[in-house]
Amino acid sequence: MRDIVSILPLAVEAVSFRGDGRTLVDGLRFDIPAGGLTVVLGPNGAGKSLTLRLCHGLLAPSQGRVRWAASMEGRAKRHAMVFQKPIMLRRSVEANITHALAAAGISGGERAERSKAALARFGLLDKAAQAARLLSGGEQQRLAIARAWALRPELLFLDEPTSQLDPAATRQIEELLAALVAEGITVVMSTHDLGQARRLASRVLFLHRGRLVEDSPAAAFFAAPDSPEAKAFLAGELIW
Ligand SMILES: Nc1ncnc2c1ncn2[C@@H]1O[C@H](COP(=O)(O)OP(=O)(O)OP(=O)(O)O)[C@@H](O)[C@H]1O
Ligand SMILES: [Mg+2]
Repeated sequence: MRDIVSILPLAVEAVSFRGDGRTLVDGLRFDIPAGGLTVVLGPNGAGKSLTLRLCHGLLAPSQGRVRWAASMEGRAKRHAMVFQKPIMLRRSVEANITHALAAAGISGGERAERSKAALARFGLLDKAAQAARLLSGGEQQRLAIARAWALRPELLFLDEPTSQLDPAATRQIEELLAALVAEGITVVMSTHDLGQARRLASRVLFLHRGRLVEDSPAAAFFAAPDSPEAKAFLAGELIW
């Protein structure tokens, strides 16, 4: 196998994003080293989704930059993003995966192999031929993660992947994410579910009004947050 240079750590260097004449993300600085699951926490409008989009490259910073350790060709395939509302193509479950692989430049034979492996890994083999848009919400989210996984990313971003799911589907996604982290995939996700953050996170980035207020190991964050904003947030108080 060809040696692959790691794209990590990802360095977010003084990143700001302006929109609507306002500074929505303000001077973010943090690194994402290889390994672990980082949860991005914060109240509605704190800038969690914007931060993930800036990191993934869907938005360009107004100031600062997002720097990957390797700026090699094909880097884009090595980080993938899963959205809160999965985007399903009007195609079969399997074709949703093979199409993403084709778009990433993966050859035909390998596409079939990888998509079969992804369907099996995420328990979707028996639904391979079904229209993706007819899957349940939980199944669509699983397919979205399977599709991202098939790209073999080193880093996976997920924006509130379980916010629309029932408790059983949520648990299932959590188990899958924990397994991906155990496989060595680095995960960065936002969530509003504090129980989920406690169960999964190794590290917490806490945002408030577009600023990074805390960057802590998860155990320390939940045991004793440093900032008044995070204390209030964990206590269930509104802190917009
Ligand atoms: N493209 C944009 N142009 C202008 N304003 C935007 C844009 N995208 C987001 N915003 C604003 O930026 C702020 C942060 O948005 P963001 O979606 O990152 O919040 P969030 O932390 O993900 O919130 P939620 O928990 O509700 O998902 C919000 O006030 C939002 O209205
Ligand atoms: Mg959001």
